[in-house]
Parts: sequence; structure tokens; C-alpha cells
Amino acid sequence: MEDKLSNAQKILKEYSQEHLLHFYPELTEAQKNNLLNQILNLNFKEILDLYEKSKFDVLDSTENIEPLDYTIKSDLTYSKKKQYISLGTKAIKLGKVGVITLAGGQGSRLGFNGPKGTFCLDIEPKKSLFEILCDYLKKYSLKYKISIPWYIMTSTNNYFDTITFFEKNNFFNYDRSNIIFFTQENMPIIDINGKLVLSEIYKINMASNGNGNLFSSLKRANLIKDMENRKLQWLFISGIDNVLLDPLDPIFIGYTINSKLEIGSKTLFKENPKDLSWVFARKNGKPSIVDCENFTEQISLIQDKKGKYLYREKNMLAHLFSLKAIKSMSDVKLPYHRAFRKNPFVNSEGMKQVPDSPNIYKFEQFVFDAFSYFKDIALLRVNAEEEFCPIKDFNGPYNPEIAAKKYEEIVLK
Ligand code: UTP
Repeated sequence: MEDKLSNAQKILKEYSQEHLLHFYPELTEAQKNNLLNQILNLNFKEILDLYEKSKFDVLDSTENIEPLDYTIKSDLTYSKKKQYISLGTKAIKLGKVGVITLAGGQGSRLGFNGPKGTFCLDIEPKKSLFEILCDYLKKYSLKYKISIPWYIMTSTNNYFDTITFFEKNNFFNYDRSNIIFFTQENMPIIDINGKLVLSEIYKINMASNGNGNLFSSLKRANLIKDMENRKLQWLFISGIDNVLLDPLDPIFIGYTINSKLEIGSKTLFKENPKDLSWVFARKNGKPSIVDCENFTEQISLIQDKKGKYLYREKNMLAHLFSLKAIKSMSDVKLPYHRAFRKNPFVNSEGMKQVPDSPNIYKFEQFVFDAFSYFKDIALLRVNAEEEFCPIKDFNGPYNPEIAAKKYEEIVLK
């Protein structure tokens, strides 16, 4: 233990993080061991480099930005729609499509204690977000007498609670062997002075490192092999919280397959040109999502000759990736983005404190950064009224009350 301690002290000194051992003398032997192991296994250089570099995040510029082509779902002709439905349905029926749910977020805006997927929608009978998703899968499983593999990514923090919840609910009577859980990785969070933070006096505060960690996590869990064994060809990827999103929408699946591209994404129209949301565009020749904060109005107004807006497609986290695409991404290290968030911390008296406003930086990888590794992407704009109603917090436009109302109106109608 003495050796371990002196090694840890050396590392902390090198990176000016000595405060992490502030409570060390008060800890039990097991706690001491736990904290030292954490320190010795962390890559401080990587984390602090990220922190330093991300201070100087370069905003996108209009240079090197070109439009991406897209199709509006409601504009599809009857025959096109029929063609896509037939292609999509065929792939589903043949068992070529699986579903990946990204459920490793902290749900910090919702402030719900537990995995976000276990949050219940106030409908009759009450349903959790996990059950709502499972219902969509069951609809197709029953209709086509198949079993659709459902991969659920959790954080290391909510893995156990997620599985326990499924067990308690008898896996919603879905085929147990087709629900596959796996965990993503963590990154330490950092305060505004560049210091790592304790979540307990014996534990460094780690948070899940963004939904873009999906690809490498699938590989780590040997699930790409599993997908190959199950002869999957397409994987639908989405978050846990959009109650209107059908993961097996045959039109979208058929549309993407028909495009002959490796990836597809549903988009939403950016109604307000002043909206700062990032939009789909080709950046340096590659499909991307661009941060148009400093030129949002400027590019929002650009239209082609037919009056089609060129830069108004927003990301709604609903993507279809070929298995080949997922496999190719599993060896890529995606970049990290920095987010300023509220997170409980241990104060100098060793007490846990919940801040009123954002106090720490989190580092996250995003699925959408994978787009630029492909030559093109099939974009299908959907109607937000029909397909987009996530739960993000209690007071904003995406709250549980609205989600329950919309779900009743649109899905349970
Ligand atoms: P959000 O960014 O909306 O995060 O994630 P969140 O956890 O739902 O809520 P906030 O931002 O903390 O308030 C979109 C989707 O990506 C998943 C989330 O679970 C959600 O389904 N996600 C996010 C992960 O799977 N892992 C992560 O590290 C972050």
C-alpha cells in the first residue's frame, strides 16, 4: 500500500491534482485501496490535455460548407413510399435489422433518480420509457413472427439498476435472449479550475463519456461478432427518450437501403432561422453536423432554385447504420466535446453538495461525429409533430406532461 500511495502522490503532484488525497487519512483500508487504484489507472495526461484543448474549440465557419441532399417524408409519392415500405419490411422480416438504444446518459436535466429509461410516462396504464420502446419492437415481432435483437447501452453507473428494472418487469414479456445489455466507458469530470472532482471522499467522480462511445463499446463487449452471428445488416440507433420514435419505421429503413449508402438519419426542419441548433451539412467534403452559432441566420435563409432550404435539417438522434459501418467505426477514436453541467460534488468539509448552476465540465463523444467517416448520408426529414417528442426536463418544451399527451394522441390513438 505504501508503494501505491507514493506512486499516486507522484502522479498527482505532476498534474497538480493533490487535492484528490485530501481525505485519505480518514479512509478505511478498502476505501484507500479503491481511491489509489483509481488514481493509478487514470490517464491524467489525456484528460487534462482535453480540458486545455477544448478551451479553444474552434467554431465552424461557412467556408468549406456545402449542402447535403435530403428528402421530405411527407413529399414522397405514393409509389416511392410503397417501394420504401416494401424494402424496409422485407429487411425487417428477414431479421436483418436490429435496434440499439443509447441509455447511458445521466438525464441530468430531468434530475430523475435512476436510469432515464425507467422513468414512467403518466398514461393509463403507466409505462416506462423502456417499455414504450419495447412495445414498438413487440409490434413488429408479433406481426412478422420474428425476434428483433435489442442492444441497450448503459453507463457503468446505471447498468445494474437497468437490468434489475428489466428483471422486475419480466423483460416486458419480450424474448429475453434478444435483449442485450452492454456498458460504455467513463471520463472524469473537471471543475472550472481544471481539477478532477470527488463524488465521495474515496472516489473520483466519473461520468459516462457520451453516446458516441457506442462503437468502441460494442467492440469491447464483443457484440459486433454477436451481430454478425445473428446475420444483422442494419442497426437503428436512437436515444431512450423520444416517445414518438418508431425504431423500425419501414419507410426510413427502405429509404436508407435504397440509397445504397452505409448510413441514414432522420432529420427535423429548423423552423426558426435564429435557432442555434447544429444542422446537417457537408463539411470539408464529408457529411457532418455543423455548429452554425455565429452564422445561423445567414445560412438558414439559403435556398436552392426550387426554394428548398439547404441548411435547415436538424439532428434528432435517429440513425440507421449498416453493420459494416458500425464495424468500421469501432476502431476509430471519436473526438470529445466539452459540456458545462450541474454535478454534485464533495466540498472541503467532505460533505456532498448539489450545485444550483453548472459547475463542472464533462467530456463527451457524439454518435454524429461518425458521419464524416462516410462519403454521404441518406437524410429523411420527418414531421416533428408526429415523430419527435423526447423528455428532457420538467419545465421546458420537452417535458413529461407533453410527452404523455402526444403519446396518447399519436401512438395510442
Ligand atoms: P442527452 O444528451 O439528451 O443526455 O442524450 P441525457 O442523459 O438524456 O440528458 P442530460 O443531457 O444529462 O440532461 C441523448 C441520448 O444519448 C444517451 C442518453 O441516454 C440519451 O438517450 N447517452 C448520453 C448515452 O447513452 N451516453 C452518454 O454518455 C450520454
